[in-house]
Amino acid sequence: MNKKVLISGGTGYIGSHISLQLYKLGFDVHIVDSFVNSPGKNLENLKNFSNKDKNFKNRIFINEGDIRDRKFLDELFLDISKRKEMFLAVIHLAGLKSVPESISDPLRYWDVNVNGTINLLNVMKKYNCKSIIFSSSATVYGNVKETFLREDLPCNPCNPYGETKVVIEKILSNIFTSDPDNWRICNLRYFNPVGADPSGLFGEKFSYNPSNLFPYLNLVAGGKKKYLRVFGKDWPTKDGTAIRDYIHVCDLSYGHILAMNYLLFKKSQILNLNLGTGKGTTVLELIKTFERVNNCTIKYEFEDRRPGDVSSLIADNNLSKKIFKWYPQKSIEEMCKDSWNCFIKNKYAI
Ligand code: NAD
Ligand code: UD1
Repeated sequence: MNKKVLISGGTGYIGSHISLQLYKLGFDVHIVDSFVNSPGKNLENLKNFSNKDKNFKNRIFINEGDIRDRKFLDELFLDISKRKEMFLAVIHLAGLKSVPESISDPLRYWDVNVNGTINLLNVMKKYNCKSIIFSSSATVYGNVKETFLREDLPCNPCNPYGETKVVIEKILSNIFTSDPDNWRICNLRYFNPVGADPSGLFGEKFSYNPSNLFPYLNLVAGGKKKYLRVFGKDWPTKDGTAIRDYIHVCDLSYGHILAMNYLLFKKSQILNLNLGTGKGTTVLELIKTFERVNNCTIKYEFEDRRPGDVSSLIADNNLSKKIFKWYPQKSIEEMCKDSWNCFIKNKYAI
């Protein structure tokens, strides 16, 4: 059976975890990545995996290039079709993901995220590859009052990054309508992906000034930052700090495998599905858990609320559970442990 999957952004943080799982499940993994935000070690470790394992030699194929480059993508699909093969599906993660950067440089975000996706979709259509799983985000919901966010809530993003995700979902909806008997599309709306494979081999690009909570927690635990700035202590939550739905990257990655399996064996359709645990954790709860499981101390100071932040974002994940039987397994303790493990194993030198 043809088991080729194309994964754009496959050497990034989430993509490397999905690539690893696909590979372990026996798929041929064809990665497209420009390496603009890919830690070098992810690439190295993926190569090592396929080279070391004699049974699986040459099952991970890495193609360096930009998804905005039509010629590059065309040649890749042409090469596969010349061998009378095709990609079963595309898992599309390539894109830019920083909210502050998207505010300061919106054109770059529209260009990479939206133009890049249009380019990819054109090439997919040309080669009759019409199954796609797209990395969307809970940021599409924007500021909402509901405690648990369901997929049928209106999309109302508060930043350019989120707007690009909504527009891509719309484009995907349009192409589905244009050819509903053939396109199979799943928009996966991630909540807060954290943690790492327990091997510690795959991580996210390192920065000394990360804006997200987990990289910052690691820097404080590792003595690289004096303290964590906790943004807001007056949120309407049990301890006054904001609530998020943190999801282990391995559970999140497995969600893609299940989504692909579902899409390929069911009738053509388009789906929007949340990937989150359905459980909320406050910043203070997270700090305590991180300290406990990693036996360290996290100094913190309260600061004003961060502009654009919301009080609470928790997934209603009933649809993902029902549709493709996705049950996230990993606890917040494992997220903290695996995140720190990856951080120390790589000596901050990703
Ligand atoms: P990442 O930056 O680690 O991975 C993205 C990968 O895409 C990188 O390897 C990068 O080099 C590559 N890439 C970027 N632009 C490209 C281009 N023009 N052509 C080819 N490759 C390109 O990010 P991630 O955290 O793994 O996120 C993956 C996807 O999931 C993104 O689309 C992101 O918006 C989405 N997402 C991430 C989060 C999160 O918290 N990490 C949350 C919601 C959604
Ligand atoms: C942010 C993005 C979201 C993106 C996600 C992962 C915004 C509004 N949203 O989500 O689109 O998908 O990152 O890239 O930017 N916090 C602190 N101190 C810190 C850092 C964070 O207290 O140093 C708090 C935040 O206020 C928030 C929680 O920790 O309550 C999580 O923050 P973060 O990791 O940045 O994720 P989000 O803001 O949820």
